[in-house]
Amino acid sequence: MKKLAAGNWKMNGTQASLAEVTALLEAHPDPACEMLLCPPATLIAAMAALARGTALMVGAQDCHPKPMGAHTGDISAAMLRDAGATHVIVGHSERRIDHGETSALVKAKAEAVVDAGLTAIVCIGETEAERDSGKTLAVIGTQLDASIPGGATAANLVVAYEPVWAIGTGRTPTLTEIAEVHSFLRGRLRGLIGAEAEGVRILYGGSVKPTNASDIFAVPHVDGALVGGASLKAADFGAIVAALSAA
Ligand code: PGA
Repeated sequence: MKKLAAGNWKMNGTQASLAEVTALLEAHPDPACEMLLCPPATLIAAMAALARGTALMVGAQDCHPKPMGAHTGDISAAMLRDAGATHVIVGHSERRIDHGETSALVKAKAEAVVDAGLTAIVCIGETEAERDSGKTLAVIGTQLDASIPGGATAANLVVAYEPVWAIGTGRTPTLTEIAEVHSFLRGRLRGLIGAEAEGVRILYGGSVKPTNASDIFAVPHVDGALVGGASLKAADFGAIVAALSAA
């Protein structure tokens, strides 16, 4: 299994930000891990043009569950593929919270991604209150069961474990806590999709930085990272790519 360093630019970036992509590719033309950036939809086509023929893959941050139609402001998975995307993040906690997305909707989106021939990065994670009350594994187990697409394989599904309280806060779970969740998720995936589970990348996300990446990547069943803030700068994301390549 090749590990995956995925960056999520969220609602950040304009054409000028593409200079960071050029710098990233200059510094890391041929990493040992897979490298993916998910810019806002407005930049996908331009970033994909820059990435063509390089080690960088380009993804999207969300999609609509339907392939086309009267849905003003929405974008389908097929349209994202047409723009050059190979992956789509679905169920990020910012969408679950800001837009009230349920796991049923996230699953429908993930299935649309798979139907379009792309890879779904399905995000799950507990809130701080859920962790404090000892419900972490119950919450993420339920989210996983309800969110992953039917027909999931190692090629069309990536799972991202992102504790809500660790996103953008500079706080992370302990390495022991990350290990507990990732090993639980591997087992849960085995129950859901059998042997395919061994090849599904399970990413950790939430305040991954150059300073903590190597320690996190040494944890069993951590197959890469979904990186927010630190993916915006080539130097920081490149350092995380290098740490994953060395893991
Ligand atoms: P962060 O975001 O790295 O800025 O904490 C992670 C994410 O939301 O994917």
